[in-house]
Amino acid sequence: MTKTKPKSEILFDDESLEIGDTGPTGRPLPDFPMSPPPDPDRTKNAVIIAMCNQKGGVGKTTTTINLGAALAETGRKVLLVDFDPQGSLSVGLGVNPHTLELSIYNLLLNRGADIGEVVLPTVVEGLDLLPSNIDLSAAEVQLVSEVAREQTLGRVLAKVKNQYDLILIDCAPSLGLLTVNALTCADWVLMPLELEFFALRGIALLTDTIQKVQERLNPDLKRLGILGTMYDARTLHSREVLDRVVSAFGETVFHTVIRRTIKFPETNVAGEPITTYATTSPGAAAYRMLAREVLYRCPGA
Ligand SMILES: Nc1ncnc2c1ncn2[C@@H]1O[C@H](COP(=O)(O)OP(=O)(O)O)[C@@H](O)[C@H]1O
Ligand SMILES: [Mg+2]
Repeated sequence: MTKTKPKSEILFDDESLEIGDTGPTGRPLPDFPMSPPPDPDRTKNAVIIAMCNQKGGVGKTTTTINLGAALAETGRKVLLVDFDPQGSLSVGLGVNPHTLELSIYNLLLNRGADIGEVVLPTVVEGLDLLPSNIDLSAAEVQLVSEVAREQTLGRVLAKVKNQYDLILIDCAPSLGLLTVNALTCADWVLMPLELEFFALRGIALLTDTIQKVQERLNPDLKRLGILGTMYDARTLHSREVLDRVVSAFGETVFHTVIRRTIKFPETNVAGEPITTYATTSPGAAAYRMLAREVLYRCPGA
């Protein structure tokens, strides 16, 4: 039996894989149904997902941009929140953080600031950006003396929850007050994990932080899943690490795995998501598949 499929039907980034085949995580690939676009008349109440891992360079920002773009392609209104003072999410969407007059910093510290003046449109229809820059690092210090300091981001986002179906927060590589703010207002946390040996060590600390936030600040926070990134199917090492992640975390691990490809760094330079930069590439297919899997895991989004 041949396994060739027309381009438009390719679901997984490995073109030879079909539904039911054993996927990279060693489990049969389920058929995640394509969720229909939401009813345009429904009252929006955004589902908030925080992208979190205290290690840098694991694919948080790349996942925020490309998952966000893939979700917007399904007809949903999506807001991406740059919550890292490095401003990589803003750069990755073609915004120069140094030239911003207003950023998320103003919303966190200045109660009178209007979020509508800070949100920017992106090249993708239905995808907006709340940008940040280095000013945000000062917010971390200034917030320490505030009352209900952990709820500050939640108060900002509450004003626009009725305008979006989903809000994705790109966290900084730390478990400090900014990340705790993101976890406190989120419904779900998605943990990108670089598939290399030492990456596993950090998961225990992250899990511990999530548990503390659940106990003290946000009992509604749930784990959306662990996303394997930078996967290189040609190396035994990558496959071994993925096997270990699946044996440790089971169904928490997404079936979708993001492969290592130079296309992602290229999209940063281009300042746009892979879904528009290289729309038929395997990387774009992978993030579209992840979007299906995410919508399957959080019904109502
Ligand atoms: N799947 C991938 N393959 C190759 N390079 C990637 C991949 N995902 C991300 N990158 C690159 O790795 C670097 C770090 O990724 P990034 O998403 O910024 O991580 P984080 O936000 O966790 O620090 C960036 O240069 C990005 O372009
Ligand atoms: Mg980042």
